[in-house]
Amino acid sequence: MKPAELAQKFEGIFGARPRVFCAPGRVNLLGEHTDYNDGFVMPCAIGFSTRVAISPRPDRKLVIRSEDFAEQLEFDLDHLPRQGTGVWSDYVLGIAVMLKEAGHPVSGASLLVRGEVPIGAGLSSSAAIEVASALALMSLNGTRLSLPEVAKLCQRTENEFIGARVGIMDQFVSCLGRAGHALLLDCRSLEFKLIPIPENIRLVICNTMVKHEHASGAYNRRREECDEGVRILRQWYPKATALRDISLEQLEQHTSEIPAVVYKRCLHVVSENQRVLEGGKYLTDGDVKHFGGLMRDSHLSLRDLFEVSCRELDIMVEIAESLEGFCGGRMTGGGFGGCTVNLVKAADASRFAAQIAERYQASTGITSDVYVCSAANGASAD
Ligand code: GLA
Repeated sequence: MKPAELAQKFEGIFGARPRVFCAPGRVNLLGEHTDYNDGFVMPCAIGFSTRVAISPRPDRKLVIRSEDFAEQLEFDLDHLPRQGTGVWSDYVLGIAVMLKEAGHPVSGASLLVRGEVPIGAGLSSSAAIEVASALALMSLNGTRLSLPEVAKLCQRTENEFIGARVGIMDQFVSCLGRAGHALLLDCRSLEFKLIPIPENIRLVICNTMVKHEHASGAYNRRREECDEGVRILRQWYPKATALRDISLEQLEQHTSEIPAVVYKRCLHVVSENQRVLEGGKYLTDGDVKHFGGLMRDSHLSLRDLFEVSCRELDIMVEIAESLEGFCGGRMTGGGFGGCTVNLVKAADASRFAAQIAERYQASTGITSDVYVCSAANGASAD
């Protein structure tokens, strides 16, 4: 459906002409579980977006609807909850709450959401709805925040209103991604560099269609294990405030003094940061082959050290490696299910997509969704 049709639909429901804002999901090429360790990541925005249509209301209500759900939710702007209750509208509401808390004006509004980012696939449908909602709500009052500030507001919404201790990666690239480019982000300084992805390369995203139950609890536990690693390492490196500040050589000097599980988590993060920096150089040189090698190392590290892969992700990666046109691939996102991302030669991409779906089905019995994508632009007004 075209954006104009969303506006038309909105008019049919609310009787007013809306403005429409759009924000994409993302796929991460390299740098997993490094963002909340003040490290480096290299995601791209993708061509699946969430759109939020908005118009002002004369009262003090937020009225929120989505094309995907039947109900209409209404909230009183003067009595907003402090925390989400686990419903889809939390992502919109949470933005309003965080804007207000930061001292920005929030006025009555009607909103209609259209989400095209597959939900629960690890492609950041939540960042997409947050960013689009932030731009929409800000537009009613002329609130001007830079895009990195918008990303931070959206991350705060996840951390404080939704209760997920996520890093900044997803919201940042949803705001600032660029078509045809990967975004190498320093999650501490928020400095970033856009690196062109060679034109003859496609991103083939393969959804395992599984989402393991324990994912969000396990995510938070991984964060705690990383924090514990920092606490221990500070005995020897008191200036370190995050795993970002620890080198591989430093870590390896203390193998026997750190509990085995915590050590493995730290080793993943420290080496993954190095891979992103190295990968940035390879990609800048158009060296997809060596970049692909780092993606493979990243997958093995996520599987064996950080332990966030699962059988289905491993199978998907293994099949990809045997197919024509494959240049590199790995699990992407938080893990425990969700998607793999593969760099595939454009000429082979559609055959690759058909074959991987067929072989994954043969070995798991699961019908997967496979998307052939290119890096897309970040958030915008339609
Ligand atoms: C999720 C979080 C991100 C990041 C990844 C893992 O997508 O939202 O902040 O931590 O997991 O790299």
